[in-house]
Amino acid sequence: MSDAVGLLEGMATTRSIRRFRPDPIPDDLLRTVLEAANWAPSGSNVQNRRQLVVKDAEKRRRIGELYGEAFKVFYPAERLAEEVDPTHQRMMRGAVYLAETIGTEPPVLVLFCRDDAITGSPANAAAFRPWTHGATVYPAVQNVLLAARAVGLGGCLTTIYLRYEDEIKALLGIPETVDTYALVPLGFPRDTFGPLHRRPVEEVTFVDSWGAPLS
Ligand SMILES: Cc1cc2nc3c(=O)[nH]c(=O)nc-3n(C[C@H](O)[C@H](O)[C@H](O)COP(=O)(O)O)c2cc1C
Repeated sequence: MSDAVGLLEGMATTRSIRRFRPDPIPDDLLRTVLEAANWAPSGSNVQNRRQLVVKDAEKRRRIGELYGEAFKVFYPAERLAEEVDPTHQRMMRGAVYLAETIGTEPPVLVLFCRDDAITGSPANAAAFRPWTHGATVYPAVQNVLLAARAVGLGGCLTTIYLRYEDEIKALLGIPETVDTYALVPLGFPRDTFGPLHRRPVEEVTFVDSWGAPLS
């Protein structure tokens, strides 16, 4: 397992990769990032998360078609010309590009799922909030993106496809009890890793009371 990037440096430079080289992902690298997904925690360690790796070209093409349709509703490409903030425009240009190529350019798509049939009823039902469902899945997505960064691969967390989740579930034979949470294209990047655009930590972190700044 190669791991040339330090953990904090990797976290600080793992940006969304939306443009990919055509090279296939060697099996050992794919295995490494999938292991990283599996290292992520789940509530009570019930391990109800599942990853579906889509390599089949025809299935990827169809998923790409559905993703593209969903993306057009969310953000028609013509809107790019109206963007005033150049950073946001660059990001959306990447998102438009991904929407046009996700079914053909990245060699692998990973669909992150959670199987309710495995979960059972939560022990702390009174305190349960539905968004904890996602909390079982998204740490695995971030683990995959970080592991990908470590081995020279890239990816992007996407959710736009959810508009056509039923169609994608049917295509992939996913049972009723399973929900999907994220679709991650993976491959060797044509984009570069680098610094992230984030508000300063002081602006988004409070201490002891809401609004009390981190000094
Ligand atoms: C919940 C969530 C949903 C997202 N969905 C999409 C998506 O459907 N398509 C896409 O291109 N990017 C998607 N992204 C990626 C974000 O646009 C991206 O992470 C954000 O702009 C920050 O950019 P960076 O990852 O390069 O730092 C999503 C990210 C998150 C966290």
